[in-house]
Formats: sequence, C-alpha cells, structure tokens
Amino acid sequence: MRVTMIGAGYVGLVSGACLAEFGHHVTCIDKDADRTAALSRGEIPIFEPGLAELVAANVRQGRLRFAVKPTGIGEADAVFIAVGTPSRRGDGHADLSFVYDAVREIAPLLSRTAVVVTKSTVPVGTGDEIERILREKRPGTEMQVVSNPEFLREGAAIHDFKHPDRIVVGTEDARARDVLAEIYRPLYLNAAPMLYVSRRTAELIKYAANAFLATKITFINEIADLCESVGADVQDVARGMGLDNRIGAKFLHPGPGFGGSCLPKDTTALLKTAFDHGAQLRIVETVAAVNEQRKRAMARKVVAALDGSIRGKTIAVLGLTFKPNTDDMRDAPSIPLIVALHDLGAMVRSYDPVGMAQAKPHLPDVTYCSSAYEAAEGADAAVIVTEWEQFRALDLDRLRCLMARPIIVDLRNVYRADEMQRANFRYLAVGRPDAERYAERAMPRRRKPAGTKSKTAERADAL
Ligand SMILES: NC(=O)c1ccc[n+]([C@@H]2O[C@H](COP(=O)([O-])OP(=O)(O)OC[C@H]3O[C@@H](n4cnc5c(N)ncnc54)[C@H](O)[C@@H]3O)[C@@H](O)[C@H]2O)c1
Repeated sequence: MRVTMIGAGYVGLVSGACLAEFGHHVTCIDKDADRTAALSRGEIPIFEPGLAELVAANVRQGRLRFAVKPTGIGEADAVFIAVGTPSRRGDGHADLSFVYDAVREIAPLLSRTAVVVTKSTVPVGTGDEIERILREKRPGTEMQVVSNPEFLREGAAIHDFKHPDRIVVGTEDARARDVLAEIYRPLYLNAAPMLYVSRRTAELIKYAANAFLATKITFINEIADLCESVGADVQDVARGMGLDNRIGAKFLHPGPGFGGSCLPKDTTALLKTAFDHGAQLRIVETVAAVNEQRKRAMARKVVAALDGSIRGKTIAVLGLTFKPNTDDMRDAPSIPLIVALHDLGAMVRSYDPVGMAQAKPHLPDVTYCSSAYEAAEGADAAVIVTEWEQFRALDLDRLRCLMARPIIVDLRNVYRADEMQRANFRYLAVGRPDAERYAERAMPRRRKPAGTKSKTAERADAL
C-alpha cells in the first residue's frame, strides 16, 4: 500500500517507519524543513530506542522517504494525520489548528477517493469537522475520514506499534475499513485485535483510556501518601493490588505525578469536551487537580529531608525527562519540582542522559552536568526524578564521598531503604518507610530482664 504520514514527530515517524517495515511505501511529510532534511540525511531528531536503525533500513530499501511538501499525495491509498494537538493557550482544550491547517493544505491534492486517517489524539467530533472541510474544499468527492488513535508509549514506541494491545478503527464505511485492514494486516496476522467502532467512539476511546491511566497513577500516588502516614509500604500494597487480574499491575507505580506529552493535556481536553457537552467527569477533574499539586509538592519532600529548609542549599536532580528512554520534556514533573526548589532558595545541578538539550529552554537556571556524579558534587541532597537505567546502580560510596551531605530523595523508588542505610545515606522514598524507620523495625527488640515492668505498667502502677 502507499501511505502518506503528515507529521514526522514521535508518532508520525515511528508509525511511518513501522508501516514501511511492514512492506508499505511510506512518505513522511513534515513542514519543519530542518527536520525532514535531517531525516533525509539519516539523522533522527528525537531519542527513541531502535528508531534510527529502523528508519535507516527502510530508507535503504526504498520504502521510506521524507518531504516537506505533500507532493504525490494523490496516489496514496491512505493519508494519516499525525500532527501535534497540544493544550491550547488560554483554556487548555486541544489546539486543533495543526490538524485543520494540515487538512486544508492536503485537501486540494488528495485523490477523489482518498482515505484520511486521524492518528493525532483529537476530541470527539473532530473527524466530523475534518470531513466538513474536505467536502467544502472538494465538493462531490468520495473521501472518507477515519479515526485511528495511537496508543504507543515513548521509550517503547516501536515495540508498542508492532505489538499493540488493540487497533482501534473508527469508521462506518466498508471501503475505508478494508483499506485500514490491509494496512494493519501484518499485525492482524500477529493476532492484534482490530476494534471497528464509530468514528466518535474511536475518538473517545483514546481519551477515556488516557484518563483511566492517569486515574490509576493518581490513585496509587495518594495511597503512597497514606502509606507514609501509617507506616505501610506502597510497593507491597501495589503488588497486592496488581496481582488481582481485575486491577492489573501496570500504572501502579507511585512517583512525582504523571507528566509527558499526553496524559496531562489529554485529561484536560477530555474535561473540556465533557463540559462543552454538559456532562460531568468529577473523577477526572479530581485526578487532574491532585496531579497538578503533587508535582510541586515533591519539593516538600526535599525540604523535609534537609530538616526544614533548602535555602542556600545545593540539590542534585538526577533525571529530567518525564520518563526514561525519551528526550521528551513536555509537561515533565521535573519542571515544576525544580521551579519550586528555586523558589525555596536552592541551587540546582542536574544530569539527564538525553534530555538536557530539551530541558534547557524550560529550566535555564540549572547547572547542567555531564554525569550523575558531577551533578552530586557538593550537593546537600540528590533527588532521583527519572528512573533511567544508569541511576539504578549508582556507586553509592563514590556518590557519598562527592556530596556535602549523604541524603537521597528517591521519587521513583529505585532503591531499597536497607541498602541505602548500609551505604550510610539518609533516604526518603515515595510511600515507603524511610531508612531510619526501617532500622527501627529491623532492629531486634532487646528483651527486658524478667520482672522488669514496661513504662506503661510503671505509669499504671503510679496512678
Ligand atoms: N507522543 C506520544 O507518545 C503520543 C502517543 C499517542 C498519541 N499521540 C498523539 O499523536 C499526535 C502527535 O504527537 P507527537 O508527540 O508525535 O507530536 P510532535 O510534536 O512530536 O510531532 C508533530 C509533528 O507534526 C509536524 N507538523 C505540524 N503541522 C504540520 C503540517 N501541517 N504538515 C506537516 N507536518 C506538520 C510538526 O512539525 C511536528 O514535527 C498528538 O495528537 C498526540 O497527542 C502522541
């Protein structure tokens, strides 16, 4: 099949490369000329494991190419739209200007029977508007507009695209359905379920799924807070919950609040859609509000670890991206956390394996370092914000020698309290007893000599 992908960002580039790998002939169009020029030279503008090799192989085999202008689009069997839908300034609803601009641009060039597929995450009803624009620009054509939301995760995007839990296709048109079935046939052979639904339903599935994932994360984050108050261990609580098949273990990892390019903007956009249609989504409203507060509140953990004040102190922040294996800084929890640390008078040094170039415009006042150890030099505390593989086995002795004070605040629960205690660190995690409490629990109680009364018994005697 001949496929055109409009937008060569995280989703467009990964989808385009994977579709080419399936054997289709794919042209990725991106209006960013620097991006397409870099891609044509074999340079990948984003960090995504395995993507460079996949792109190179398919370019070499002549199935994948890049262009700025949508020329040749008239021959495509399907034209996917994978442009950004960020939060709109002012009201936070999905900004659909990139989608509609792209549709207006391609409308005159499409074949009369084109199948236009929306892969961007768009609010319910966007497909109707795309169809209206196409009919207005090209009256009398038989073009079809399909919703095919994408569920891949950055950092594991190629695997997710090739092994999806499901493929959602929103259309009631038999011809469009056949085109999508043919495009995804290689996955269908792998038994990936194709879910054929109405276009509006497909659009809503994407938002409902993301809002549910956001709810799961926020739920376990609040349970983590409760664990800290009552002395329980959230890791064990999450495991005990997640082993229940009705609940499932995924997205039950407590941390500094969800971030990234999708969950924050999609929960907000879903709330706007609900509001516009007079429906209330009170759970999602609460999730969004709780999460927003949490990111900044993580600074309080750092303050607590440093006995009440961080003014004039140096904090090493390990990890900046919203999760490992991506360079994406969109809505990363590190941003409000570091802003809060600065507001409270601290200096911040930081290291992230791939995200520092993207982080600099968001966080200009940070001292960027070339390793976790360099960031830790002279620091009064180190805060693990992103669970990059290389932060999982830090040389704790070396770290302690470099730091002004041996304090680690682990917002991803990468380490165990007992190993941190053995390495002589003060250690605070999320929703788990800290090292000092652990020591209290682990210490065998000294037996009192026979006949010795407990303090309570003594007090009772005195009454
Ligand atoms: N990033 C993810 O993990 C992810 C996962 C699932 C769904 N989505 C959704 O997919 C969509 C794309 O997200 P992304 O992260 O890939 O965005 P992105 O910002 O990385 O990429 C969008 C690309 O589209 C290009 N573009 C914009 N207008 C264009 C036009 N008129 N013609 C050609 N190119 C144009 C931009 O230059 C940019 O390179 C969004 O709706 C997002 O919500 C993203």
